[in-house]
Amino acid sequence: MRLDKYISSAALMSRRDAGRAISSGRVTVSGAVVRDGSARVDASDVVTLDGKALSYAPHIYIMLYKPAGFITATEDAKRGERVVNDLLPDELSRRVFPVGRLDRDTTGLLVMTDDGDAAHRALSPKHHVEKSYAFTCSPPLTDDEVSKLERGVDIGERDGKGNIILTKPARVADGVITITEGKFHQIKRMFHAVGCEITSLCRISFAGIALDSALSPGQWRYMRGDEISMFTDSKNGSV
Ligand code: URA
Repeated sequence: MRLDKYISSAALMSRRDAGRAISSGRVTVSGAVVRDGSARVDASDVVTLDGKALSYAPHIYIMLYKPAGFITATEDAKRGERVVNDLLPDELSRRVFPVGRLDRDTTGLLVMTDDGDAAHRALSPKHHVEKSYAFTCSPPLTDDEVSKLERGVDIGERDGKGNIILTKPARVADGVITITEGKFHQIKRMFHAVGCEITSLCRISFAGIALDSALSPGQWRYMRGDEISMFTDSKNGSV
């Protein structure tokens, strides 16, 4: 790989800033200053920037605690609205996109990455990835409504022949609903189907990854190795 690409990825810099850092002599490769951004490096090289060793990671994985009032879209798609990418520093914001969507008023765990393949797998209906949401609703759910939500409800989805497609089995307990689908406004539509309205919704886990309780709305952190593995190996949920 080219040295400027390596520096840009490992130090989260733009390619241009990486090029400047290299030409100004701030970068060494295996002990020697290299000023040519097109020089080749590989995994066995020790690369430093300003004397600090860098480690190369092919992708970025971020856990964001989405606050209410932000739409789940990248900068490119914004039309005078605040978007979740606005919550990240510019260098990161330019690279990552949100995995799936949360409504403007929904809060909670949003994975942001530049790993398109893993994002695609996590979102694919084939993989039935579990998502859990803490909810409040009005009026409160009765036992009968809980059973209906768990068995599947009609939220207006139809197949090509006009047959009703019920929502897939869900789990509802202690103010938390777990689903494996991700249709537009899915949970709000499910509750509406049983005669209740959602009054707050917070995603507390996604693909087995729990929202970090140390984060406050609007804060983010890099995902840990075990969380990245859960995300990149997104497996079928058991609901
Ligand atoms: N279901 C909804 O209705 N809204 C969300 O933001 C996520 C799931």
